[in-house]
Amino acid sequence: MGSPANRIFSGVQPTGNLHLGNYLGAIRNWVALQTSYDCIFCIVDLHALTQPQDPKQLLAQTREVTAAYIAAGIDPERCIIFNQSTVPGHAELGWLLSCMTPLGWLNRMTQFKEKAGKQRDNAGLGLYAYPVLMAADILLYKATHVPVGEDQKQHLELSRDIAGAFNRRYGVEFFPLPEPQIFGAATRVMSLRDGTKKMSKSDTSDYSRINMTDDAETVALKIRKARTDSEPLPDTLEALDKRAEAANLVDIYAALTDLKREEALARVAGQNFSKFKEDLAEVSVAILGKIGGEMQRLMADPGYIDGVLKRGAERANAIARPHLAEVFDIMGLLRP
Ligand code: TYM
Repeated sequence: MGSPANRIFSGVQPTGNLHLGNYLGAIRNWVALQTSYDCIFCIVDLHALTQPQDPKQLLAQTREVTAAYIAAGIDPERCIIFNQSTVPGHAELGWLLSCMTPLGWLNRMTQFKEKAGKQRDNAGLGLYAYPVLMAADILLYKATHVPVGEDQKQHLELSRDIAGAFNRRYGVEFFPLPEPQIFGAATRVMSLRDGTKKMSKSDTSDYSRINMTDDAETVALKIRKARTDSEPLPDTLEALDKRAEAANLVDIYAALTDLKREEALARVAGQNFSKFKEDLAEVSVAILGKIGGEMQRLMADPGYIDGVLKRGAERANAIARPHLAEVFDIMGLLRP
């Protein structure tokens, strides 16, 4: 593989509790894109290290995310699936790019501010430098498109800025400026407990999210218990957008049924939540139940998963190595 005009790179952190937000904001879209792009899907284990991880769990979760990709419908023959740490070029390019990233750019990153919280001085350098490694992930393959959820938008803008900084400093057109692909009805899935908070892997309440490994009963229960108001569903998007929890559930419904927001709303307008939640649970269980079952089946065969990752690493390295060699040449790093 050379540098085709349409190459996708994207990834998920193997940090546990893979949830509906990861599926609808990212993985489901990848499945749709894999037939029209040359796709590289990574399990970004180096990124996971920016927060403390239990080594055994990190291993298990790396396999679990791999299983989720495949179970969701990503074809490991057509696409490259690998874990980040098997391709040394990510860390190497990360360093090289960090040398042309002004601190001012990193200081703007809202995700660092959220994750570091009030303990900023105790946050690791890795957490701070995280977006540079993310830029390296994408640029190492000269990826042109990056399908992600809404929360990654700022990081992608930074990746574009870093690519531009490299090209300008060395007077080359080497790195393409990667385009974010943020689409579908659920680009930002919210917590089931609080419609103003993003659904996240780290929320302490398991009722805030639907995990991709939840069984049918749990999925249905979580939806039934999801926070809502007492009014029936409205019939305009304008009215819906004033009700965060209702909007979130309608968006999830739309994404799962491949409808536009307005189409989904037209279908459910006027319903009470008891009825709507039943329908939503039904479509959720139909889709997630199948994926969850397939994940369990795949995870029972770690030999198969590791084989996919090994082959993926070889294919990824084969693209990364010559790109990195060119970067060395451009920057004046001697390769005797
Ligand atoms: P991560 O692991 O937090 O999330 C993986 C993907 O899921 C999306 N996502 C959501 N989408 C909608 N609603 C939500 N509540 C929600 N939560 C998560 C994320 O936007 C993401 O697409 N930095 C990235 C991983 C990464 C990466 C990359 C992505 C590392 N290198 C290079 C693309 C390209 C992250 O932490 O994603």
